[in-house]
Amino acid sequence: MSRKILVTSALPYANGPIHLGHLVEYIQTDVWVRFQKLQGNEIYYFCADDTHGTPVMIAARKAGITPEQLVNEMRKEHFADLTSFQVAFDNYYSTNTPENRAFSEEIYLKAKEKGHIHKKTLNQLYCEKDEMFLPDRFVRGTCPKCGAGDQYGDSCEVCGSTYRPEDLIDSRCAICGTPPVTRESEHVFFQLADFQDFLVDWLKTANRVDEGIRKKMHEWIDQGLRHWDISRDGPYFGFAIPGEKDKFFYVWLDAPIGYMASAQHFFRKSGKDELFDEFWRSEENEVYHFIGKDIVYFHTLFWPALLNAGGFRTPTSVFVHGFLTVNGEKMSKSRGTFVRASTYLKHMDPECLRYFYATRLGPGLDDLDLNTEDFVHRYNSDVVGNIANLFSRLVSGIASKLDLRLADSLSADGKELFELTAKAKSTIAEMYENRQYARAMREIQSLSDGVNRFITEREPWKQIKTDTEAARSTVTDALNAGMLLALYLKPVLPVLATGVEELLGLEAPLRFDAELNPLPPAHTIRPYRHLAGRIEAKSFDAVFAEEKEFVEKSKKEEAKESESGASKSKKAKSSGAEKKMNKNETAQESSDEGIISIEDLEKVELRVGRIEKAELIEGADRLLQVSLEVGEERPRNVIAGIRGAYQPEELLGLHVVCVANLKPRKMKFGLSEAMLLATGKGDSLTLFVPHRAASPGDRLG
Ligand code: 2FM
Ligand code: ZN
Repeated sequence: MSRKILVTSALPYANGPIHLGHLVEYIQTDVWVRFQKLQGNEIYYFCADDTHGTPVMIAARKAGITPEQLVNEMRKEHFADLTSFQVAFDNYYSTNTPENRAFSEEIYLKAKEKGHIHKKTLNQLYCEKDEMFLPDRFVRGTCPKCGAGDQYGDSCEVCGSTYRPEDLIDSRCAICGTPPVTRESEHVFFQLADFQDFLVDWLKTANRVDEGIRKKMHEWIDQGLRHWDISRDGPYFGFAIPGEKDKFFYVWLDAPIGYMASAQHFFRKSGKDELFDEFWRSEENEVYHFIGKDIVYFHTLFWPALLNAGGFRTPTSVFVHGFLTVNGEKMSKSRGTFVRASTYLKHMDPECLRYFYATRLGPGLDDLDLNTEDFVHRYNSDVVGNIANLFSRLVSGIASKLDLRLADSLSADGKELFELTAKAKSTIAEMYENRQYARAMREIQSLSDGVNRFITEREPWKQIKTDTEAARSTVTDALNAGMLLALYLKPVLPVLATGVEELLGLEAPLRFDAELNPLPPAHTIRPYRHLAGRIEAKSFDAVFAEEKEFVEKSKKEEAKESESGASKSKKAKSSGAEKKMNKNETAQESSDEGIISIEDLEKVELRVGRIEKAELIEGADRLLQVSLEVGEERPRNVIAGIRGAYQPEELLGLHVVCVANLKPRKMKFGLSEAMLLATGKGDSLTLFVPHRAASPGDRLG
């Protein structure tokens, strides 16, 4: 019977961009979700932007926009970045929504009704100029322990000590520079200690959390749980606390409640209202949170206690992962290794990152190192060398000469290979289920070594010259086993797997819950199209260089702003979202410059072409000579600067898009009679290919 599962990833803050560190979690979760879908389970993946808090409020103020505008922009940006990495949410919502307000109020009022809430007056630093209480991170000063200047109000980055903001020497407000004063304020507390016994029991339940985490949480519990301050004074971007004046829920109260809000929003809009209660008010189904090890306290103490107070069920398990390091070190802005998702995407394929993370991920809390050399080597050798080449060798080199028709059945050896490869399905499925992705990748690679050995032993490239049916048989055997490898990789490499499904002309997509049968007798496959290309370490150099430049530029801008005092003016720039909005404004204001008419567009004749031949050109290390069939009497000769990204053999049979009416150009190496459309440069260049079947000569438009 299929399981009903609800899964979440931690909600990213709306005050910064998505970076490669975030992606460890989203990719880890997405792989699990995709696997469960392929197993036939009913699974929902929810996330949202975590929008509330002082940093968002200040950033919006600096940008001269409302916090709502800022979080809306940020949400769009985050969603675009994450989905570019094939992270397939069922709903990506926001914590600043009516559903989230309603659940936050409901949980709070229930907790209050049950006597788990009290109030207490505290002393806190206050900026008289900005007229606000200052969160610890908004106070700067000299560390009272080691004397290091310009440290945060809660901890020193130089000596690592922690202290109270009042203890900082020469403290000042981080927004305006004024020395703060101490003021009294009444705060609302959630009595976490009331849930001590409940939490001990909760943590004891099998598979709730990793054993190491359970022990750590026990240490906290044994020390005595402290009351949790859940209020912040206005001005604050958040939900007002019912029954209080100018007090707002602290961002960490409503953030996890955002998981429920995202679920409810989705279930309502898809007409499945009842599923909300099935997941959140009953224990009959499964609920999992994927999180990083820095937020365990919130998810395994506060969160279950809040849910319990509010009368909701608690998560089945909380899956915790480690942090990302880059080339063995903590990600660093100045070294350019704090890489934003959007920068990575400009230079590299998202599936490379998905694969690399999968080769490094297990169920434990170990940190994961993005070693750039390993990354490049792993992808080139496993995905390109072992998987994509398997298909390219068989299809473009051999099957294309056999009318793309496979044999009537598998040979005896082929049957053995197929069965051996198919037998691994349950082991691989179990590995995915247990989040042992690195083990699964090793298993798949060892199976693919077997398939490649099978091909090499039979040498179908020689068979085709002497015995076409023997070649057909080898191709049939190997492609059938290759099809299973594509299934096993599908949760990690959905694009590559879909490419294989199309290439093999499958009637139904590959699934884990389907019986694994060979392709039908005399099945016809499709012409080869590019599945994956080699990557080079220099792409990372470009990524790091761009990030370094970005940091330098931001620093200069900040310095300029503070010199001119502009940081207080409404024009000051701070966040990515704000920069983007300014860019949009400029675009709207600008004239018709750069805009072409439909008539201009019609002058360009874009056509589908099929690459019949591709060859290296001696003495030209960036160029390839291509023979391009565009539906004319003879193929066109094209000299294209694509050698950095493509090997000639992987281009054979590929359908591309070209400008067909460009005046032929006489080049040193011959006449070029069309231009291939591509994006990117060097090794990260990629050709545009039609998404579905298209024939040479088809016009675009
Ligand atoms: O640590 C963070 O980035 C938080 N924004 C995560 C929130 S997860 C959940 F609780 F909302
Ligand atoms: Zn101030």
